Amino acid sequence: MDIFQIMYFPDNETIAKVEVLADLEQDVADLTVAHEAKRILWFPSELLAPEPDTDPDAFVKQLRERAKGISMPARVALALNTLTEEGLPHFHRLLATYLGGDTFWAKWTNLWTAEEDRHGAVLHDYAHDSKILDNPVLERMQFEYLKAGFEPTWDKDPYRVFVYTSLQERATQVSHANTGKLAGQYEPLIGTVLQNVAKEEARHYVFYREIFLRVLARDPNRALESAALIMPSIDMPGISMPHFREMADVIRRAGIYGPRDYIRIVEDLIKFWSIDKLEGLNEAGRKAQEKIMAITERLERVANMMETRSRAKTFSFNVAFAREFAME
Ligand SMILES: [Fe+2]
Ligand SMILES: [Fe+2]
Repeated sequence: MDIFQIMYFPDNETIAKVEVLADLEQDVADLTVAHEAKRILWFPSELLAPEPDTDPDAFVKQLRERAKGISMPARVALALNTLTEEGLPHFHRLLATYLGGDTFWAKWTNLWTAEEDRHGAVLHDYAHDSKILDNPVLERMQFEYLKAGFEPTWDKDPYRVFVYTSLQERATQVSHANTGKLAGQYEPLIGTVLQNVAKEEARHYVFYREIFLRVLARDPNRALESAALIMPSIDMPGISMPHFREMADVIRRAGIYGPRDYIRIVEDLIKFWSIDKLEGLNEAGRKAQEKIMAITERLERVANMMETRSRAKTFSFNVAFAREFAME
C-alpha cells in the first residue's frame, strides 16, 4: 500500500477507501487505454492557426474584426471558463494527493493534467489573439485565484473527489459547448475551439463516472454516503474570485449554464449509477440513497425560486472592458 502514501491518511475510513481505489488499478489501466483510443490530440497553436499558405497577420486582423461582434455575456462566459481551466493546479493537487506513486492512477492523473492544460492554454491564447477581453485584468484574476488556493471540505475523502470530478467534467462540458454555440454565432473559430474542449470534457466525464460506478460496486454504503454529501450542490472552485457570483449570474441568464443544467447532470448520474436500484445496503447506505433520490426535487424548487425572483439587471466587468450591458 505504500503506493498510495497511506501515512497521510491516519483514519481507518480513508485507508479502507484508498484500498478500494488500489483494487481498481487494473480498471484504471483499461479505462485509460480506452480513453486514449478515442482521443483526438489537438494543440492550441494548431486550432488557432491560419490556413496554410495564407498571411498570418491578415488572419489575426480578420479574427479581431470578427471577434468585435462577440456579445458581452459570451465574453463573460469565456472569461470565467478560462479562469476555471486555469485553476488546474488546484485540481491536479487534489487528485495527486490520493493517486500518487508508480501506479496507473498516477499515470491517469498525469495524462488528464496534460490534456486539461491545453484547455486553459487555448482559451488564453484565443483571448490574446482576438482581444475580446482585457487580458491584463484576466491574468491578474488568474493570479489571485491560484494564490487563494482551493481547500474544499471534500478533499479529505477520495470518494467525494470522484463524485466531484464526475459532476464538474460534465458541468464544464455543458458550459464550454453552450458558450461555443453562442460566441460561435459571431466568430466561428471560437465555436470550433470550444467544441474540441467540450468533447474532451465529455471523455473525462465518461472516465470518472465509470470509476465511481466501480467504487459503488465494491463499497456501496460508503460510496453512497460520500455521494450524498457532495451531489446536493457543488461549488465551483472560482467561488472566492472577485465578481464570481455576478459572472455566474450572467452565464445563467445567457442560457449557458445554470441550476437547470446542474439538475440534468445529477439526474443523468443517478441513472448511470442506478442509485435507486442499489440493494442490500446498511442503514447509513439507505439513508444516503434516500437523500440522493430527493436532491432533484429540492433543486427544482431552488431553480424555480431563483427564476421567479430574477429581475432585469445591468452588469459591467473590468475583464470585459467595464462596458455596461443589460440582461433579462
Ligand atoms: Fe478542462
Ligand atoms: Fe476535463
